[in-house]
Amino acid sequence: METNVIYCGDSLDIMKKFPDGSIDLIYLDPPFFSQREYENIWIKDEITKLKFSDKDWENLRSSINPTILKEYEEIEKRWRGGHKGIYVYIAYMRERLEQCWRILKESGAVYLHCDWHAGHYLKMMMDEVFGYDNFRNEIAVKRVRKNVKERKEVKKMNVGYEIILFYAKSDKHFIKQPTKKDIKPERWHDFEASGYRTGMDYELFGRKPKDGNHWRWTKDRAMQSIKEKILRPHPTSGKPQYLIPASTETILDSLWGDLVSSSFKHGYPTEKNEAILERVIKMSSKKEEIVLDPFCGCGTAIAVAKKLNRKWIGIDIARTACDVMQKRVGGKVIGGESDDELRKMNPHEFARLIIMEKLNGTINPKKSGDMGIDGWIEFMTIPVQVKRWGHKVGRPEVDKFRTAVQRERKTKGMIIAFDFTKDCWEEVARIKKEDKIDIQLRSVKEIFNN
Ligand SMILES: C[S@@+](CC[C@H](N)C(=O)[O-])C[C@H]1O[C@@H](n2cnc3c(N)ncnc32)[C@H](O)[C@@H]1O
Repeated sequence: METNVIYCGDSLDIMKKFPDGSIDLIYLDPPFFSQREYENIWIKDEITKLKFSDKDWENLRSSINPTILKEYEEIEKRWRGGHKGIYVYIAYMRERLEQCWRILKESGAVYLHCDWHAGHYLKMMMDEVFGYDNFRNEIAVKRVRKNVKERKEVKKMNVGYEIILFYAKSDKHFIKQPTKKDIKPERWHDFEASGYRTGMDYELFGRKPKDGNHWRWTKDRAMQSIKEKILRPHPTSGKPQYLIPASTETILDSLWGDLVSSSFKHGYPTEKNEAILERVIKMSSKKEEIVLDPFCGCGTAIAVAKKLNRKWIGIDIARTACDVMQKRVGGKVIGGESDDELRKMNPHEFARLIIMEKLNGTINPKKSGDMGIDGWIEFMTIPVQVKRWGHKVGRPEVDKFRTAVQRERKTKGMIIAFDFTKDCWEEVARIKKEDKIDIQLRSVKEIFNN
């Protein structure tokens, strides 16, 4: 199995090609059902359109496996309102998590990052796919708090955390307990604890614990501890006290309030904090094991896996994400360049891929009203238009583009598309002869083959 690679495409299609029991650890941070559209990303100090949608899940209904969807239909009928697409989202995620389960080794584990929008529905679905007994922890990670102006009348509290659902594939998964450096000097602590316990209310230094309380240790252990000088009466009050040794490390529990979830290091929306991934990867994998992130974004999980000497595989459906990842971690990008895959890309991403990545040009930063110019190549001297259409580009498009080139006071331009009509080639020849404007027509295939 090829590792240290980035796959560009839908994680469902890609994971289906992986063999059973081949992956050690999966971390996934999919869209959270947040009802948001993510649009911009900063690359090379330029803003670029990315567009991944976490909205309108209902529209995806027809693309979901009907057998899975059918299971949710009865529940959906009882759904009171709000965002109807939630079970479409759950069914979408379930298809992918079933693949995660299949490809994980028996000793493997999965960490699913989510939040309040769908976390509880995902938990139920994960219990079905991974088994209730394989649930290990619900980890809470601190959210970056937006600095909203203090208002007295609001409808709900600020959301303080995101959730990571941690499941093992089986009992063969063991973790290395995460610890935190926590240097505390040795200290004396009250030996009395609340709650009654039979036999633990013996007399000690002439006292008994208060009614309903107990001493922390059995009588035998207490006697031994007195000899070892780790149990004593308080020098003034006389209350029994025991010595807590100096500690340098404390074992962490599932409340990761010391780490914030997001990072803004690579300009990717929804980018996660490397420290979280470091904790997850160290906890649930060993050196040389394979870490997979099927919704990889700008590649935080795989960058950390690489740093920690794990093998890694990243998958993202957005070409822009795959390019950012490649710059961050190296490795090769597989897929995302067949005609079918390219045609599925959103127009902005497609233009960015061709102009910036393939032709080393500059993309037009205007979101709309770009007047037919998607970018420039050759040190801004040649305006470029990129068409992602399934049908051929014809004469009217060439005429419009000629006007745009003239408006820019340029004498050269380039149109890139999958195919051109015969009329189009004739019009280009006429424009060159009569208007002295040289418009080159290039096929997408030509750009990718070069
Ligand atoms: C929340 S972001 C992940 C961010 C990532 N953890 C990071 O630190 O950068 C979710 C990503 O999932 C990708 N995505 C959405 N649907 C996908 C699918 N079906 N297959 C693969 N990737 C997908 C989006 O393009 C987006 O980059």
